[in-house]
Amino acid sequence: MHYFNFKKNNLYCEDMKVEDLAKQYGTPLFIYSSRTILEHFLKLEQAFKEINPLICYSVKANSNLSFLKLLTSQGSGLDIVSGGELYRAKKVKCPGNRIVYASVGKTDIEIEEALKYGILMFNVESVPELKRINTIAKRLNKQAAVALRVNPDVAPKTHKYITTGKKENKFGIDMDTVKDIFQKSKKYSNLNLIGIHIHIGSQIIESKPFVEAIQKIKILIEDFKKQGVGLEYLNIGGGLGITYDNETPQTAIEFADKVLPLLKQISLKVILEPGRFIAGNAGILVSKVTYIKDTPQKNFVIVDAAMNDFARPSLYSAYHKIVAIKNNKKKRKDGKKADIVGAICESGDFLGKDRELDVKEKDYIAVFGAGAYGFSMSSNYNSRPRAAEILVKDKKIFLIRKRETYHDLIKEEIII
Ligand code: LLP
Repeated sequence: MHYFNFKKNNLYCEDMKVEDLAKQYGTPLFIYSSRTILEHFLKLEQAFKEINPLICYSVKANSNLSFLKLLTSQGSGLDIVSGGELYRAKKVKCPGNRIVYASVGKTDIEIEEALKYGILMFNVESVPELKRINTIAKRLNKQAAVALRVNPDVAPKTHKYITTGKKENKFGIDMDTVKDIFQKSKKYSNLNLIGIHIHIGSQIIESKPFVEAIQKIKILIEDFKKQGVGLEYLNIGGGLGITYDNETPQTAIEFADKVLPLLKQISLKVILEPGRFIAGNAGILVSKVTYIKDTPQKNFVIVDAAMNDFARPSLYSAYHKIVAIKNNKKKRKDGKKADIVGAICESGDFLGKDRELDVKEKDYIAVFGAGAYGFSMSSNYNSRPRAAEILVKDKKIFLIRKRETYHDLIKEEIII
């Protein structure tokens, strides 16, 4: 579900004509729909209202400050993975007690900053990290709240780069070690072990692997209860898939129907960490056609966005729907398909392969599903300034990140 629709052959974001936005702000351009973002958040909140979970939006999916502000002012917490993301959380004044912090490689300074800000808890991924947090908390004379990220060893059907809950992945701690840590919890004098965290992967379109993982965790938590270990939180991570092509992922309600019975039995305060579910379909990337290059072997639509702006197709062979923002239904007269490619000097630089698009030079195209892991994964490769970002909200348009300039590209560099 999203608010990017065609009206009389023109693509709109909510009530705004995308062509007008592209002309006004230039391309490549990320356009976000605040109504879509908020409705996704509310859908999850509604689906789980019986247990009133803390929903911590996963900042990495789209970390623009206005995006974060929109969600935190709606009551969302934030799931962060770096000092930079903590800095962003502070900038939007997200209360510390709504921030959870994962990552396999938290540095001393990152741990210290998070402790000082008073985050709700660290999601800890290894024994050395646990020791490090304990030492730093002791030095600061603080108690650090910790959830152990358990690796439940389940296999969601998704791309191997975004599978995180298998035992060969670098994430989380195996069950036996988790039990051992709780048995020896006294030695961590400055830690409060208050929760269990899981996150099994991303773009998971069925509920089964989630259920499987929660079932495994339930047994662990029941064991702990018998031993008198008092836990407060169960964080079931993010990972809910969305529709990019013709997938039919579980809806928030279907997901809740499957996992709520288990969560109610476990009876701990629940945390969710959705990223893509909230942001993914709330954004498009608009780009302008530079050239049409037809060759004897293949046809190319060369556009002004590239893999530096949007890495998912190149990195994960991810499919994203691409449309002409005007007269989208028209097909090339010769019936040929084309690859939609950028200007970067790599054959892996493409946004889509074998697409039927009837476009000509200077036409605009839109890449759908670009709200999550789009701008946040963009780079300056080939010395390309990063795109501008705009947010449509309450019938108004807000520039939420200016297009970078050539000066931005070199401003931190030093000629010796
Ligand atoms: N929690 C943790 C601990 C995570 O590692 C992630 C994502 C999330 C929550 C949010 O997951 P989501 O709800 O968005 O699936 N760049 C990849 C996705 C990487 C996901 C990394 N972790 C992509 O473009 O598909």
